[in-house]
Amino acid sequence: MNKRSLLIYGVVVVVLAGLGALATGLLVSIFERKSEAKNPYIHLVEVGEDDTDPAKWGVNWPKQYESYQLTALATRTRFGGHGGSEALPEQKIERDPWLKRIFLGYAFSIDYRDRRGHAYMLYDQEETKRLTKPQTGSCLHCHASVMPLYRELGGGDAMAGFEKSYQMSYQQMSAKLHESGHAHPVSCVDCHSAQTMKLRVTRPGFIKAIQALAASPAPLPQLPSIERWRATDRRAPYDPNLLASRTEMRSFVCGQCHVEYYCSSAMPLEFPWSKGLKVEDLEAHWNATTLPNGSRFYDYKHSESGAEILKAQHPEFELWSQGIHSRSGVACADCHMPYQRDGATKVSDHWVRSPLLNINRACQVCHHIEEKEILARVESIQARNFDLLQRAGKALVDQLDAIQAAKAAAATDEQLHQARELQRQAQWRLDFVAAENSMGFHAPQEAARILGEAVDLARQGQVAALKAKTAVPTESR
Ligand code: HEC
Ligand code: HEC
Ligand code: HEC
Ligand code: HEC
Ligand code: HEC
Repeated sequence: MNKRSLLIYGVVVVVLAGLGALATGLLVSIFERKSEAKNPYIHLVEVGEDDTDPAKWGVNWPKQYESYQLTALATRTRFGGHGGSEALPEQKIERDPWLKRIFLGYAFSIDYRDRRGHAYMLYDQEETKRLTKPQTGSCLHCHASVMPLYRELGGGDAMAGFEKSYQMSYQQMSAKLHESGHAHPVSCVDCHSAQTMKLRVTRPGFIKAIQALAASPAPLPQLPSIERWRATDRRAPYDPNLLASRTEMRSFVCGQCHVEYYCSSAMPLEFPWSKGLKVEDLEAHWNATTLPNGSRFYDYKHSESGAEILKAQHPEFELWSQGIHSRSGVACADCHMPYQRDGATKVSDHWVRSPLLNINRACQVCHHIEEKEILARVESIQARNFDLLQRAGKALVDQLDAIQAAKAAAATDEQLHQARELQRQAQWRLDFVAAENSMGFHAPQEAARILGEAVDLARQGQVAALKAKTAVPTESR
């Protein structure tokens, strides 16, 4: 080899070695990142089923824990988060006076506020003036990390403990929760398996209700794993933890609490899903339910009109299930817990809050349009829903006035029967949309349909009350 070719050879060797090192370096780095992405957790502490303290889990999963803690911060959008002071959210019943009127005779007319972040769920329940009326231990199902207590009450069987807990007073159950050291708001163990970190549902109310829903004939194109289970021999009930897809689980974990329910010392906590998830399916479920004293189901008697009223509670899961997003496989977590990049890993944002504070990660991953435009679209949906809601509220108040007038003219219970029934139906629909927390966004057309029916039923009820008034013979007026 002459000097020149030696030199070229040397250069080639150096370059190749350099490239090799570069390639190895790259491979190592890719490998590291891949394994980081595949197994991003180093278990520093063991966690188990009884570890309700999120701080302990936070040692293993600091990123998720850090964002989880941010739920203690106040947030606000036009309709989301809360108004009021840091100490207490604003009263809904003062902001919308018709709300207070329709709840007369019920604890919600005493104290009914905006929701806020998960960090406050136990505190806000303990502080509400609704507790000045006797309440049941079932309240804790959705406001605390309550599973170990259910197991304790049921001698190891959580379902059995749950079935008992409605007979305990709120105060008894709360004292036990605090004594046993589980007085935490919704915690890691409520949505994650301690062994695998996989999503799972724990709440007995949800598990019973989703099984009843699966067994119903209601079409459920938005929940394909239920449709698949229906095609089997159905010997074992539908088990969400075994059968649901990951996408479905990303909504089911929220459906453990963000749903319509009945909760009192008369019977175990119940979600009304045995006939489907639409507003009239839920109504049909309640209409087919009898209270232990044998009477038809109702939440309270309206103190002015005497109508037997159904109170709706935050049906986010149900309304979402009627919208285009659920139909397209978009889960609660997609919008409310979007991914954040952290090195090569993706971390789900555990600061559960309004997605409007987070449009770029919550919406723009799918909607490639400007943030301003997305916000404007949401605002137009919400503003229309708000206007229709006020209209329905006005219609119901007019109906209540008409019933009052008929009563003042000594109309009989029989004459008032139809007006009261129509109030029950109208108010159920109005309250369903009012108590739902997205101001119509989760299923805009469905919300408008429901409010349209509410206005119609309230006006029919007003007419029925006017008829009842004029039906009263003049001599008895
Ligand atoms: C396509 C996105 C999307 C999906 C999916 C979605 N939401 Fe929402 N959600 C929103 C938007 C937008 C709002 C309105 C926020 C506002 O007004 O600030 C909202 C509002 C809420 C609120 C009130 C938020 C606040 O700050 O007061 C709750 C609670 C909620 N959603 C729960 C759920 C649950 C539970 C599910 C699943 C069953 C779900 N959402 C599915 C977009 C979504
Ligand atoms: C164990 C019951 C429970 C579970 C599970 C749960 N939530 Fe909540 N959520 C609540 C309660 C209770 C509040 C109201 C807390 C308060 O006002 O003190 C709340 C509040 C919220 C708010 C309002 C936050 C704000 O800043 O105003 C949003 C949004 C929300 N939840 C979405 C979700 C989503 C999405 C999921 C599923 C990933 C979920 N929640 C799971 C019980 C639950
Ligand atoms: C099925 C689950 C569930 C049960 C059972 C439940 N809650 Fe809640 N609660 C929620 C969710 C979800 C929110 C947040 C959404 C909202 O405020 O509409 C909430 C919000 C609240 C709030 C804050 C807003 C307000 O209404 O002033 C209070 C207080 C409250 N609940 C008290 C109670 C009491 C008392 C009981 C028992 C009678 C109870 N909860 C039972 C799920 C539940
Ligand atoms: C209300 C339910 C809920 C609670 C409470 C909750 N998580 Fe999650 N978590 C989720 C959801 C939904 C995902 C997304 C999982 C998926 O898509 O498979 C997730 C994902 C994760 C992941 C997987 C990586 C990632 O970020 O996507 C980790 C780790 C995690 N959570 C840790 C925690 C820890 C630690 C806590 C308590 C401080 C906690 N979670 C509380 C619902 C919850
Ligand atoms: C995982 C994907 C995904 C995410 C995240 C998502 N969307 Fe959508 N969105 C869709 C799909 C799919 C449709 C149905 C229309 C279509 O097929 O293009 C849709 C439809 C809509 C519509 C029109 C339908 C209606 O209900 O009137 C609006 C408005 C909308 N999205 C807003 C939002 C907002 C706001 C967010 C964030 C809070 C969001 N989307 C997050 C996928 C998504």
